[in-house]
Amino acid sequence: MLTFPEGFLWSTSTAAYQIEGGWNVDGKGLSIWDTYTRRNGKIKDGTDGDVACDSYHRYMDDIKVMKEIGVNSYRFSISWPRIMPDGTGRVNQAGLDYYRRLVDALRENDIEPLITLFHWDLPQTLQDKGGWLNRDVTDYFADYVHLTVDALKDQVTRWLTINEINIHACCGHMNGEHAPGFKDDIVGLQVFHNLLLAHGKGVIAGRSASPGGKFGYAPNLDYFYAADSSVQAQAERDFAMAKGNGWVADPVFLGKYPADVWKLYEEQGVAPRVLNGDLKIISQPIDFLGVNFYFANFLGEKPADAGKTDWHALYYPKGLTDLLVWISERYASPEMVITESGCPELVETEPLSTIHDTFRVNYLRDYIKAVHEAIQKGAKVKGYSLWSLLDNMEWQQGYTLRFGIVQVDFKTFERKLKDSARYYSKVVKANAWTE
Ligand code: BGC
Repeated sequence: MLTFPEGFLWSTSTAAYQIEGGWNVDGKGLSIWDTYTRRNGKIKDGTDGDVACDSYHRYMDDIKVMKEIGVNSYRFSISWPRIMPDGTGRVNQAGLDYYRRLVDALRENDIEPLITLFHWDLPQTLQDKGGWLNRDVTDYFADYVHLTVDALKDQVTRWLTINEINIHACCGHMNGEHAPGFKDDIVGLQVFHNLLLAHGKGVIAGRSASPGGKFGYAPNLDYFYAADSSVQAQAERDFAMAKGNGWVADPVFLGKYPADVWKLYEEQGVAPRVLNGDLKIISQPIDFLGVNFYFANFLGEKPADAGKTDWHALYYPKGLTDLLVWISERYASPEMVITESGCPELVETEPLSTIHDTFRVNYLRDYIKAVHEAIQKGAKVKGYSLWSLLDNMEWQQGYTLRFGIVQVDFKTFERKLKDSARYYSKVVKANAWTE
């Protein structure tokens, strides 16, 4: 039996836009995803998150399935425009009340809330003012963080400022696949920097509201393998790691951007404008790093044991172990929580996803074991939050990719445990990896 440390957080992750629905009720303002999904051709199956899993009304059903699985933590995000419809100024009490009900109900069920303060659904009013390209938005973010942390701190200890700064900057601003839909490297890299700045200001604001709170952020981190053992191949691999991971994590942990990547961006004329003092704010000490892991990349040939998933990600659990060890070495062993790890099923014709999801059972079995191995190697991993609790609105893929360990019937909203949820339940209840 491979046992996990005592007090290990076993959790499932979701995000507000992907599950809540209730897009225009009780005073909520519009987010950039509410407007983006209304533009023709942006979402693969023409859907949106207007209703999604209807968790705004059915959060007790979500808690019921989590209770059945036995998790002791739940990672979810707060919709900024539900709390501040214009992103700044006016507060929507009904929105705050919703999250109050949610965190109270979680605590009553012995589930610790782990809150992401921004998971991509920027208030549209702020987008109209330039969005993340406008530095003022980083201050509005800090105000929103202060207000929210202050309102919920009696029940919540762990906070993540921003989900996947790198993906929001790249997909939302450089390749146009996500809201707000820009395709511009200069915009993207400036937004990237401003998001890092917002993270730093968010940590400062959060701590001032809750000095006892634990603050972190959740970048998407990949692992890269060199093509071969030559010096040049190693250098290429190090550069790929610096570009993919260092750009989003060095400023926070080391207070600087990776020099070789900076040089490249400067030569390309796309390096961001960084003001004096920005990196000091960005490198505020954090209490834990959220690790969202999906990708292992091979710069040379893929090994035979690297499998396929229904998505473009590779099935390669060792990548997760290697990544956690790499982070520990590069950033002086920070405390980590895996905040996302999971795999989808492609559902293009059937309305429902598969209950007997053997591929996902195997996936969890292998990836959870990989986490255990990293802990054995000294990585300070304090928890595992899989993506995702529910089948939900998978951004530009609409409902064609289902990541849930719980099936959602989008007509009746019935939630049903899949085999993967039952497997996860065994692990969680034993606090140990099992076959
Ligand atoms: C995001 C989630 C998303 C998942 C699967 C992550 O990039 O944080 O919102 O659903 O990956 O694509």
